[in-house]
Amino acid sequence: MLEVRLLGANRMTNVSISLSDRVFVLTGAGISAESGLPTFRASDGLWAGHNVEEICTPEALRRNPALVWDFYSKRRADNQKANPNPAHIALAELEAQIPDRFFLCTQNVDDLHERAGSVNLVHMHGELAKSRCERECGRPPVEDHTVYKNLDEVGRCPCGGRLRPHIVFFGEIPLEMDRIQEEISRATLMLVIGTSGSVYPAAGFVHWARQGRARTVYIGPDQPLNGAAFTQIVLGKAGEVMPGLFQVESRAEHLTT
Ligand code: OAD
Repeated sequence: MLEVRLLGANRMTNVSISLSDRVFVLTGAGISAESGLPTFRASDGLWAGHNVEEICTPEALRRNPALVWDFYSKRRADNQKANPNPAHIALAELEAQIPDRFFLCTQNVDDLHERAGSVNLVHMHGELAKSRCERECGRPPVEDHTVYKNLDEVGRCPCGGRLRPHIVFFGEIPLEMDRIQEEISRATLMLVIGTSGSVYPAAGFVHWARQGRARTVYIGPDQPLNGAAFTQIVLGKAGEVMPGLFQVESRAEHLTT
């Protein structure tokens, strides 16, 4: 049965994590909103005023690489100015408590989880701070923090191909899917934070978790599109509701009960 909790200033609830739980976390743009990074689908979000097809597809990169690089260079500049917020820190602290039973999958291309201290994580939609060969010549992505002012500044791969942002465009396959599937199949608790549930395959992860009988908890200010699939919804801003939200059972507690 779905349990919806509205968290006001003094209303406390918690998400219990037992010694036998394995936790899979999926985050989206909402977790970085309180760090000052806009989400995609809000009325003033990143896709407002932009046609996604003009920026975030392989065709867009072929047709107008300058526009694509301009968009992602601005995202790099914003990312460099932003800092992790209490929600990123709450996840890093949770991982420190249960390092062998914690896995974080983010759709975000910013590096705020790493900077908060998260270790066991994958970026399924790529990373802003990396570039790779647009010819997909097989060389791995390289670290690249440069905010390019124009296309002529963008570097080349040793094979001669121009670098492209290491971002998964619409129509491309998300990264690390085998590992993600494996981790979901082992999870007993899935936490989903700050994502609208509108982009697949990530929006379907909650269904995979339910098939494996995991508890599924959503955290964010609005019900996501796939809200019916969650066992618990905690309504509130992630940075406000996540500190103190997790009640992790310790071995000592287990022995005395
Ligand atoms: P969306 O913009 O679709 O959704 C952001 C979600 O964050 C919404 O559900 C908001 O309610 C929620 N939100 C806003 N403020 C929040 C806060 N303070 N705390 C918690 N939640 C908050 O962003 P995503 O679902 O992440 O893909 O978008 C998924 C993918 O679509 C992105 O990874 C990106 C985009 O196109 C690529 O670029 C490949």
